Amino acid sequence: MKIGVVLGTRPEIIKMAPIVDEIIKRGIDLTFIHTGQHYDKEMSDNFFRDLEIPVPDYNINVGSGYHGKQTALMMRGIEEILMDEKPDIVLVQGDTNAVLAGALVASKLHIAVGHVEAGLRSFDMTMPEEVNRRICDVTSTMYFIPTEQSAINLLADGYSRKNLFITGNTVVDACFRHLEIAKKRGFEEESLADLDIDNMDNILTLTMHRAENVDIKSRVTNIINALNELTDMNIIFPIHPRTKKTLQDFGLFDELNNLNHVHIIKPIGYLDFLQLISKSTLILTDSGGLQEEAITLDIPVLTLRYNTERPETVAVGGNILVGSDKEVILKNANRILNDKEFADKMKNAKNPYGQGDAAIKTVDAIQDFYDNGLLDIKAPEDIMYSFERKMDLVNEDISVKDFEEKNNSLIHMVYDGQKMRFPVDDLKLKGMFVIFDEY
Ligand code: UD1
Ligand code: UDP
Repeated sequence: MKIGVVLGTRPEIIKMAPIVDEIIKRGIDLTFIHTGQHYDKEMSDNFFRDLEIPVPDYNINVGSGYHGKQTALMMRGIEEILMDEKPDIVLVQGDTNAVLAGALVASKLHIAVGHVEAGLRSFDMTMPEEVNRRICDVTSTMYFIPTEQSAINLLADGYSRKNLFITGNTVVDACFRHLEIAKKRGFEEESLADLDIDNMDNILTLTMHRAENVDIKSRVTNIINALNELTDMNIIFPIHPRTKKTLQDFGLFDELNNLNHVHIIKPIGYLDFLQLISKSTLILTDSGGLQEEAITLDIPVLTLRYNTERPETVAVGGNILVGSDKEVILKNANRILNDKEFADKMKNAKNPYGQGDAAIKTVDAIQDFYDNGLLDIKAPEDIMYSFERKMDLVNEDISVKDFEEKNNSLIHMVYDGQKMRFPVDDLKLKGMFVIFDEY
């Protein structure tokens, strides 16, 4: 078996690393492709080093640009490589332009696509990420899904449960493995060592890069006005290159940089960053990965957005959406700092993203599909017979698997009277509503 992996940005390197590691450990052939969307050493190369994975075999070097051109250049490069390498499956992770490009090209070449971190939905189609992840889902064969809630999003869109695998999120694998290594190593980045982070209290780690925040002057201004007043905190801000550029364009960079309690530094490596957040009292961010890492490492997080495709973190109480509203940011940040009971409750929120074995589960599922010929994407040769979509209230003591066998059907959705459930094979259906296709 040969697995292709396509990635292009910092978070994809971090979240794909545990899978790349697992592929290599099992001796499976790997075709490893970097689109080059992120290219600064601090946004790319340093992560292969810190996460101890090889650098990709190919770098398409697309660089920055408008979405259409950038995605098109990625597609052209990926197509040439895949036509030559012919992997059995191509894995993409998350919701960036690499995901869109990799998924479209592979599916048109009739190569199976595996979407890692599938099923997330912000329901906000103005976000390029929402467009990318939805299109990727349409082209995919296998879906590696962090939580039951995300799996239900895919069921609601009509995807077959047979192709959905709830694995947890690979960010937990990365966090657990590398935090220990990081702590033994200590801080490497000079800017952090100079700040003497180890002896600093009330650390607020800040990251932001979302277009809907940093490209809109009124929103960044609100956020900066809030930071201005958070003088009881030591704000450490490893700044994303996009944000640095827009703050400079808006003439806001110097104002922020001159505040005594705000320390703007360049983006830092993963081992340094894990240590920094694990020592933080609070994380303020619009990053997707950071919402997950915060809950994994028991750090309260305030998310600078009005929606999130990670609603589980909010539901369990570890994450509060504060938008870019100055007063809401201040109220919640001050409460976390001063109200121990409130902060402890956020810290103790249960991590919805699994145990840190998402990469093992992902590669196990791929191996199983490969062994059973399910990665072969061929035009159908069977005559397709019709099916009827039905709904039923189940009265008998029967599991999902037995129900499907008995009724020659595939179950899509299950409702237990209170919430939707993911139809795993052994789920008992008595008293539940099911929606199923009967063949
Ligand atoms: C991209 C992803 C986003 C992801 C983020 C992770 C898309 C549509 N967006 O957003 O989903 O959350 O990465 O960080 O795929 N730049 C540099 N050096 C670099 C990379 C970027 O200076 O190495 C600057 C350039 O000015 C560039 C800007 O940052 O124009 C934005 O980069 P881009 O990759 O287009 O989007 P991100 O905001 O990084
Ligand atoms: N990160 C890092 N160094 C930094 C800032 C972030 O290593 O200076 C890591 C962080 O731990 C997380 C990931 O980068 O895993 C998040 O990336 P980003 O916020 O760029 O993207 P998103 O997750 O929003 O797609």
